[in-house]
Formats: sequence, structure tokens, C-alpha cells
Amino acid sequence: MVEGLRRSQDLKITLISLHGLIRGQAPELGRDADTGGQVKYVLELACELAAHPRVAEVELLTRQIFDPKVSSDYSIAEEPIGQHAKIVRIPFGPKRYLKKEALWPYIELFVDQTLLHFRQTRIPDIIHGHYADAGLAGAQLARLLHIPFIFTGHSLGRVKSQRLSLGKDQLPESLEKRYKFKQRYEAEETALETASMVVTSTSQEVELQYQLYDHYQPSRMDVIPPGVDLEAFSPPPEDWQPPAEVVDELARFLRDPQRPIILTMARPDERKNLEKLVDVYGRSPRLQELANLVLIMGSRDDLRELPKGQQRVINNVLQRIDLYDLYGKVAYPKHNPPDVADLYRLAKQLGGVFINPALTEPFGLTLLEAGATGLPIVATHDGGPRDIIANCKNGILVDPLDDAAIEAALLRMLTEPQQWQTWSQQGISGTRQHYSWRNHAERYLSDLDKILKESPVPDLASAHKTRRMPEFDRLIVTDLDNTLTGDEGALAELIELLNNHPQIGFGVATGRRLDDAMQMIEHLGLPRPDVLDTDVGTQLHYGVNLTPDLSWRKQIGYAWKPIEIRALLDGQPGLFLQSEEKLSEFKISYELDAQLAPSVDEIKKRLREAGLRARVTFSLGMYLDIIPVRGGSDLSMRHLLYKWGFAPEHVLVAGDSGNDEGMLLGRTLGVVVGNYSPELERFRNRPRVYFAQGHHARGIIEGINYYQFLGDIVIPNDDAE
Ligand code: GLC
Ligand code: MG
Repeated sequence: MVEGLRRSQDLKITLISLHGLIRGQAPELGRDADTGGQVKYVLELACELAAHPRVAEVELLTRQIFDPKVSSDYSIAEEPIGQHAKIVRIPFGPKRYLKKEALWPYIELFVDQTLLHFRQTRIPDIIHGHYADAGLAGAQLARLLHIPFIFTGHSLGRVKSQRLSLGKDQLPESLEKRYKFKQRYEAEETALETASMVVTSTSQEVELQYQLYDHYQPSRMDVIPPGVDLEAFSPPPEDWQPPAEVVDELARFLRDPQRPIILTMARPDERKNLEKLVDVYGRSPRLQELANLVLIMGSRDDLRELPKGQQRVINNVLQRIDLYDLYGKVAYPKHNPPDVADLYRLAKQLGGVFINPALTEPFGLTLLEAGATGLPIVATHDGGPRDIIANCKNGILVDPLDDAAIEAALLRMLTEPQQWQTWSQQGISGTRQHYSWRNHAERYLSDLDKILKESPVPDLASAHKTRRMPEFDRLIVTDLDNTLTGDEGALAELIELLNNHPQIGFGVATGRRLDDAMQMIEHLGLPRPDVLDTDVGTQLHYGVNLTPDLSWRKQIGYAWKPIEIRALLDGQPGLFLQSEEKLSEFKISYELDAQLAPSVDEIKKRLREAGLRARVTFSLGMYLDIIPVRGGSDLSMRHLLYKWGFAPEHVLVAGDSGNDEGMLLGRTLGVVVGNYSPELERFRNRPRVYFAQGHHARGIIEGINYYQFLGDIVIPNDDAE
């Protein structure tokens, strides 16, 4: 491997998929709302990537769960799922199974646990986060370790809330509470901002879904359809005989079962637009002359026991069959045949067509199945089918609301035998070429190459420092203004405490600039800090000589565009640039007048929309800091722990306001002093964040006692949920 360049062989790929239940053996798909297609997707992706000769190792990180309500398989720390692939289960937060909306408070705990895991194994070449939760976690890890990041949303918060709000602007409070949309959007924005590549399954997903985000960057979007297991969907051989059960079942409905079949297969869901298909067929004598219509609408025993929505669709279909008097021409079996592939084969053998007239179709699996069997397709132009037809050229797209277009497409299918043959052949070859996991992995890795070429090997990936930080085994890191300062008596006590415990390291993390912070430290008569984290988590120095952390320094400027940021924000109403000596290389700071200025959310949005990657922190209701995405006290603190191999449990962090937020979360022992400002209120129920009664340094001392930090450390709020 060339120095400074990344390897393109022997890759280690880390996939993260946090919620739900994931296991290699007999995955429990569809057990609940959190065990859907994503589980299958990540398992298949992991195995296929691992099988590639260029990949040394794939690990799929998920949550470790101990819960009698679910199988003990989910508590196993490591489960091999292929020769070079394994599931690694990381414990974080409560032990029991939680639904995905309940995971948000624990994401930073996962980040810290995973750092430990990487430190013990090896830093991956790439991290790929799946869904918003792992998107947030993976983005933080990637920023911290300076490795590229890939994101796949699977489904997006803004799309879901749009659907739930039914066109209204404001989502009802109850839905917000249940689905935690605000957290989800923010996580998705962070993931999009961090990602070098966003892998999506269809181009419509890109156009209609990712476009709803501030951080929409078309150039980073990459449509790579997932592999589909099409082995079972082979065309019928010359001498193929349809199984008797299939023939008999259709014979119960059809007067002339030898005629071509117009086949559709879909859940009885309004959006599938099945009624429309019956209308088109019912009003077209020509279609009725040429073909039978076969509707496979899921399975039912007692129609009256189906969910209301499904009942309605089926009733509508039955009424229309009666209305147009389609008896003998339409089949609508109560159950799926044992093997649906036989139905496609039969339809192909009879020279028929498969149709999916859905109002919108996210992906279109049945269309691929039909195509793979050699049955030409007519498909809605809304959604995934557009890509399928573009890739395979095996049929016709139609507007699902246009009766005449649907009829015309079906007629062409049934009356142009030569074209029919071409469609059929192209479906058989196209689906295999474009929708195999093998093909997915090839494209994935070749796109990954371009990314790896542009990212230097991260410093932290090279040999771990074995040198420990100076003599101490635990560390107190505190903010200056309003945390240390404000109560002189208590501060004197704290200084005395520090002086009496030389085994405890002392660190300061502040929004102030280094020179400014040093002046303040001297003025207060504080001991010389062992660690100085200044300029809102953008500068890191050690010891009496203020030795800069070079590996930190090297990466902090990533994607930092101070001139563009200033051009965007300077002169905005209510934003006043702080004086020159408050600004520094990686910190742009304003005072904000809340009466006049745009909201902090709005400011973030504008930066994102301008394609400017930066972090925004807000403190004391008036200070606004803009810093690089790889900065902030959460990352600087974690960098320090990772580099020096410090256990987070041995680090107590104290703060009072917004610019302390980041370092308070995670596995370190957090203390919020009693005089905290309102931005921190939302951390009330976070694990490992203690809200002291005492103000200023008195609160820090209270926190030290709370965690028994000078003796055998205890973490009383660890089980808080
Ligand atoms: C300190 C810094 C100021 C910053 C604020 C919030 O007061 O001097 O520049 O905006 O902290 O981080
Ligand atoms: Mg402060």
C-alpha cells in the first residue's frame, strides 16, 4: 500500500443497522414494524460484499439485546454469517428490546462502545449507516475517525410525516411524540451532510424523497438497485406443464382458460389501483375478446374479517365484475398458489402480460419477478418501475390514471407478437444483469474506489498510541464560563480538591479562544490544565507547554469554508459578528438578537441549502458559533479518549450551556450545573447526564460526589430511561 493512500484491496467494511432484530439464521422478517425489508437488505449486502475478492472483512453492527421476549440469539456478541462476514452486537442503553423510536437517547452510547470495539479490532475503511438512527451514529463515527461514510435512508422521516399529515402543514403533536420526527430529520440531515455517497434503490427515491432535505446534493446520490433473489423465477422450459392445482383453480373462474392472461398481483390496497384495472378491462370489449384477467389479491378466508381498507378494495372489485358482467373472464382466487412463479410461467406460456397499475410503486418486486420469468410488463410510471423499464426494456410504462393509455398498452402486448418476444427476452436477461446482488456489489465497490482515492488514510488508523497520558487515571473536564466561574468560594474548594488529588487530570473545554482561555485560567488561579479544549471544540492542546494535538489539527479543516459561510451570514438581520479576537481559524462566532435574527434551525437550513458543511451551536440564548463538521466538544473529547485509550467512565465532564452539549452525551459522566441555560433542558432524561442542584463550581463538586469520582466510581443514573 502506498503511503498516504488508502488500500483498495483487503477492505474492511462496517455496516450499521441498529433497530429491529437481526440474525443470520432464519431472520424474523415481518415480526413487527422494525423487522422489514431493511433487515434482509443489510444481511444480503453484508454477505455479497464479503464474498468479493477485494474485501477482507465485513462486519454488520447492530444492537445487543437481552430480553426474554425475544430469542437469545440477539444477545450473542458475534455471529458469523459467511466466510468473511459477521454480525457484531454492541450493547448500548437498556438491555431489553426497544422500538426504533425509543433508541434516540442512546445513540452516543453506541458511538462510544463502537469506538472501543474499533480500538480493539481495526478501524474500517468505510462505514455505511442504514436508516436515520445508524445514519446519525455512523456519521459521528466517520467524522471522528476521519473515514468516509455511506448512507442509505431506507425510508425517510420527511416522506412519512408528509404522508401522515395529509397535506396539512403542522403535524399533530401526538404523531410527533410517537414518531420523534424532529430527531429523525436532524439525524438524516447529519447523515446526508457527512455522506460521501448516498446509496438508493430507485431514481424516484432521489428525486421525490431525498430532495425534501436541506442537504440534498444530487452529485452524491447513487442509484444502485438492491439484488433480488430471482433464482426461483426462471422461464418455463419448452415442454413445461403447469401444475394441476394452478390450472384447476383458474378453471373454476374462466370459461376459456387457454386464452392469454392479463395478470396482476398486489395487496388489496387502495394505492395499488386494482379497481381501475377492472374498469379498463370491463369497458374494453377488445381486451375481453383477447384475454382473461387474473387478479391475485393476497389471501383471504373470510372477506369480512380483513382490515377495513382491504375489504373495501375487494368489494369494489367484486362489484365491478358484476357491473360489467365479466363472469367467465375474470379469476380472483381466494388464495395464492403454493408457488407464484408458476402463475407467471403460465401467463408467459399463454402469451400474456403482467400489469402493475399502482398509483405509486416504490420499488416493484413483482415486476422483476414477472420479467425474470419472461413475462412482459405494463407498469405505472410512478416510482421504481421507471428504472426497471429503463434497465431491462421489457415493457411499457403507463400513467395509472389514464384509462386509454392502460388499455392501449395492454392491447399492444396482446397483438404484437414479435415485440412481445423481444420484451420477453429482454426481461429475462435484463433482470439478471441489473438486479443481482453480485452486480450491486460490483458497482458499490467501484464507486467506493473513487471515494477512497480522495480520502487520505486517517491518522488514528495507524498504530495505536500505547503511551498513556501523564500519570493520572481519571480526568475532570469542565467548561469555564458559568460552570467554573460564578461562585468564588466553591471554586476555591474545587481548586483545593484538584490540588489534593494529583492522580486526577484536569481539563478545560471552552468556547473561548486559546489565548483568551489561558488569561482567564491564570486570572482564576486554576491549576495548569493537562488538557485544553478551546475555540468550541476546534483546538486541542496538552500540558504546561500547550503542545498541540497534531492528529486533531490535521483533520479539523475538512470541508471548512469560512469565507463562504461569512458571505452567507454576515449582515443578516440580528446577527452581529463577535470582535476579531473572539474569532479563530475554525470558529466563526456571532452574537444573535433573537428578536431580529432568523431562528437557529433556519440558519442551519440556509447553510445546508448552500451546500456548506458546518456545525452550528447556540449558547446562553445569544452566542452562535459555526465550526467545521469534524469539530465540536463531543468529537474533540472522543478524539482524546480514543487516542489515549481513556475509559469514558473515568472522565467527568461539566458544563452549563449549548456549546457544552456534545461532550455531555455518551459514556462519559456528565454533570450539568444548577445554573444551566435552557438549551440543555432536553438532556434531562439522558443516561449519564446528572443535573446538579448546586450552581457553578458547587455543582461540579456535587457531581464529583454523585459519581463518587474520587473513590470507586458509581453511575447511579445508568439505568435511567
Ligand atoms: C465564549 C466565546 C465566544 C463564544 C461563546 C459560546 O464566550 O468567547 O466566542 O461564542 O463562548 O461558545
Ligand atoms: Mg459556559
